[in-house]
Order: sequence, then structure tokens, then C-alpha cells
Amino acid sequence: MKKIMDYMEEELKSAFRSCGYDEKYAGVHLSNRPDLCEFQCNGALAAAKEYKKAPIMIAGEVVEKLQSQGMFELVEAVNPGFINLKLDKNYLSQYVMGMKLADKLGVEETKNPLTIVIDYGGPNVAKPLHIGHLRSAIIGESVKRMKRYLGHKVIGDAHLGDWGLQMGLIITELKKRKPQLVYFQKDFKGEYPEEAPFTLGELEEIYPAASAYSKEHPEYKEEALQTTVELQQGNPGYRALWNHILDISLEDLKKNYKKLQVEFDIWKKESDAQPYIADLVEKMKREGFAHESEGALVVDVKEETDAKEIPPCIILKSDGASLYATTDLATIVERKKLFDPDQIIYLADKRQEMHFTQVFRCARKIGLLTKEVKLEFLGFGTMNGKDGRPFKTRDGGVMRLSTLIDDIEEEMLKKIVDNKNQASEEDAQKTAEIVALSALKYGDLSNQAAKDYIFDMERFTSFEGNTGPYILYTIVRIKSILNKYMEQPSRTDSQKILPASGDSEKALMLLLTQFSPAVENACEDSAPHKICSYIYELANAFNKFYHETKILTEENKEQQASWIQLLMLTRDVLEICIDLLGFTAPEKM
Ligand code: ARG
Repeated sequence: MKKIMDYMEEELKSAFRSCGYDEKYAGVHLSNRPDLCEFQCNGALAAAKEYKKAPIMIAGEVVEKLQSQGMFELVEAVNPGFINLKLDKNYLSQYVMGMKLADKLGVEETKNPLTIVIDYGGPNVAKPLHIGHLRSAIIGESVKRMKRYLGHKVIGDAHLGDWGLQMGLIITELKKRKPQLVYFQKDFKGEYPEEAPFTLGELEEIYPAASAYSKEHPEYKEEALQTTVELQQGNPGYRALWNHILDISLEDLKKNYKKLQVEFDIWKKESDAQPYIADLVEKMKREGFAHESEGALVVDVKEETDAKEIPPCIILKSDGASLYATTDLATIVERKKLFDPDQIIYLADKRQEMHFTQVFRCARKIGLLTKEVKLEFLGFGTMNGKDGRPFKTRDGGVMRLSTLIDDIEEEMLKKIVDNKNQASEEDAQKTAEIVALSALKYGDLSNQAAKDYIFDMERFTSFEGNTGPYILYTIVRIKSILNKYMEQPSRTDSQKILPASGDSEKALMLLLTQFSPAVENACEDSAPHKICSYIYELANAFNKFYHETKILTEENKEQQASWIQLLMLTRDVLEICIDLLGFTAPEKM
């Protein structure tokens, strides 16, 4: 559906042309003086230079031409040469009615659908899912949904971290604790047991213990490094253990992501890249891209124009172990083979920027990808506590994601119970879960991804202000009016939307027309925060209209039905937007 701004711009272009001015001056944008007008065109100011005429004269001529059009209720030239515009109410309501009938309420799918791999989540197996991975999951999920909404083919990949030193550490620690296990017998020939020799709880205790111990004991660390290499090179006992670790972790991870409504299309892992590494290394050596440096194999990736030092990309360590960059490069090879993507988007902490710069440069340099394939790093900031430092538990430890979710749910439950709108305890619990997710996700997504933000339980769970619960509250309010309306015996089923009856209704309609530009722009820029700002404004506009309008007691049935149509559209827009952000609304709250 054509955007309302484009329709306006067309009118202005034709007016500029017929006055003898270039149409390039006809740009229209939202007014920055909403008290005076809704839209404005500043082109006369720029045109003045080219045509050597006072801007106000040019504006005046254009305004005269526009006056005869039915599109505007106000067109006015004001000093020094602005053109102020207000849309005609009838025109506006027609457009809004058109949105209701259009596919996706007027959002246009891309004409150039791409195959996009989104690499997000990135949890590390055997480590409890902690809040550091929360942002990756939340932002990535939203970006995935947005791209898909625009018509791209999107593959969301969890890209589990399962191939690094953490694996070597866990296996080393197990060996220390239970050396008698068959996994450690060199010439073991039988089948390894199906049952893992540890539980999830033990696993989660083993990793931090091993990691701490290795920091104090170099010989232990050395052993873990050696174990990592052997695992990567295929030691059967280690592989069998690694399989157990993977299975147990995965089950838990899947449970957590499900709770977050984060849905990966594939659960690939760093280790899946292993089969591609040998060929990759061989190619880098053969084609002269890789060279030895202090025993390691590296590829130089610095460029002349670099303002800061970009160190070489390390491919193999001196002990032959592959590294984070190695698996990322080999994963590109695999993704190319499996999906032939046009774009790969990576979500990770912005402190990993250097890593991705190195990997992207290396991938291009060694010719893993054609120029057209876009690699994009979406680095996000840290979630901090109220003290401005990275979020921690009360005793200073790393906060587990599940604990954080439980805390928000508990807080939300209190408020939901206070509201007394739930039929049963069970309903209250379910509603609390839905609303808590909105608090968590919206609290995150309403910030620009690259910025750090402060996790503020009180603010995030508030029903007022720029929060998830406020947006849900608005949706629930609309649903409740619609339900009550449906119970009224004297309804008409007119689908007509009448011209706005007052300013707040017009403001609501104007915001509704901004749905497709807002969504397309946010999707294009992989910027969920833009959807948040849009729905916050929309929710505010709706609530203002609601407070000024007695919808359910309106006697003019045609007018009432028109408002109901407007409410339905507002609900639909809000629900599409929250779905793009990755959460849903309850029926009551
Ligand atoms: N597992 C990594 C971490 O915990 C994030 C993975 C990001 N994706 C990637 N392809 N490197 O930091």
C-alpha cells in the first residue's frame, strides 16, 4: 500500500512543477511543530537559492495550487517560507479504512527477498544460561521476526558454543574426579554407556570449579588445553563425554528459550564446523593467505586505512587447536553450502567487535564469499544493574537467566493479583508469565541495541510509562471494549470509518497511517527500538482518545461502529508490533 506521505509528496511535486519549480523541492515530513500543523514542506527555502526569489513567495505560489486539492484541510505558507499542512479528515479516514483491507495492513513486502542467516543466542553448553546471553536472544529473535515479516527467507541459528576450552576443562575435571570412568581408558573397545555420568546440576557446578582451579594451576590448565585439542581431533572417549554434555545442556537450554519465546530454526554448533576446518586451513596455506607467527597460523587482516591496530586473525594455535575465529570461518563455509545466504547477521556482545572485524575481513580476503554476500555484526551493549555495573546477583555472582525470569514473574504476579481481574490463581500465574515476558523484552528492546541499559525491575514492570506492561494494558483495554461492544444488542456491522470527530481521534488516525513506514524502517535497519517508540506513541494516542470518548454509550450507531473499527485496527497494529518484538498480550490483566 502506498504510504500516505508518498501521496502527499505527489501532490506537492505536481504543485511545484506547475509553478515552474523543480519537484525535488517537494519533500514532505512530519511536522516538528505539531501545535501548528501535521506535516510540513521546507522545499521553498531551498528552492529560493536556485530561483533567486523570496522563499515565502515560492511557498505562496505552491500553496495556491494545493488549495484546490481535496487532500488537505489546511495548506498555509508561513514565514520565512514553510508550507504547513493538515490532512483532510475525510481523506485520512478513507486511507485508514484502506489499511484495514490491505494485506499486512499496508506493509509492503520486499521486492528483493534475501536468504538471511541470523546467528543469535550463542549459548555455551555446560554453562548455565546467564543474562549475558539474554540480549542476544531477545534482540536476535525480534530481528528474525522483522526480516521474515518483510518477506525475507530467514534461518535463525542458535550457534551453540561447544568447541572451546570450556569443554576441555569439564572433561579434565571429570577425569580428576572419576578417573575410573571408561571414557578415560585408552584402549577401551566396547560401547560407551548411554547414560551420562553426571547430572545437569553437577555439570553446572563442574565448569565454574574447573575454570577457577585452572586459573591457579598452570599444569591443570595445560591438561585442559591438551584435552581440548584431543577432543577436536576426535578422541573417542572425549567425544562420547562431549555428546553427553551436549544432550544434557541442550535439554535445559531448549526449556529456557521456550520460556522466552525464542524459537531457533536450527540448533547448529561450533563443532559442526569441524569437518570444514582441515580444507579451509589447507586452502589458506596453499593460496598463501596464512603464515606462521610465533608457532601459530595466522592471516593478516589489517588494511592501510585502519585508524587502529587490527591484529592478525589466528587460525590455529601452536598446539593445533582451532579457535573462535576458526570455527566462525568454517561455519561460513558450512552456511554457504547449506543455505547459500545473501546475508549473515551475527548478534553478540559489542565487545566482540574486533573478533568479527577479523573474521569478516579474513573471509573476504580468502574468498569464502562473493562481494554481494553481506556480513553484518549487530553488537549490543551490556545490561547493567541500578549501580551502573554489569548485572549481578545479590551476592555478586553471575545471575542465571532463569532466576531473573522467576523474579520478574513474581513481581508481576503481585501486581496482577492486586488488579483482581483474574478468574483463578492459575489464570493469574499464566497472565503474570505473559506480562513478565513483555516487561523483560520491551525493557531491553526499547533501547538502541548498541547502548548499555539499566535493568530496573520497578520501571520495567510498571503499567505506566514506556514499558511492555503499559503496551499490553492498552491492548487489553481495547479488547475489553470490543468484548463489551459485542454484547450490545443494537450494533450495526458497518465497516466504515468516519472522518475523525475530534483532535485526539485524528491524532490516532494519523499515527495509524505511520504503521507501515515505522515497521518497514525498523525491519530494514534491524532496529526493534524503532517499533517500540512507534507503539508507545500509538498507545499514548489511543489512551488519550479513549479518555475523551464515550464509545460504549454512544447513541449514534454509525459513529460507534466507526470507532469500533478504529479500535480493531489499533489492536491489530499493536499486536503485530508486539509479535515482531517477540511477545504476546493476555486477554485480561
Ligand atoms: N558463544 C559466543 C559467546 O558466548 C557467542 C557466539 C556468537 N556467534 C558467533 N558466530 N561467534 O560469546
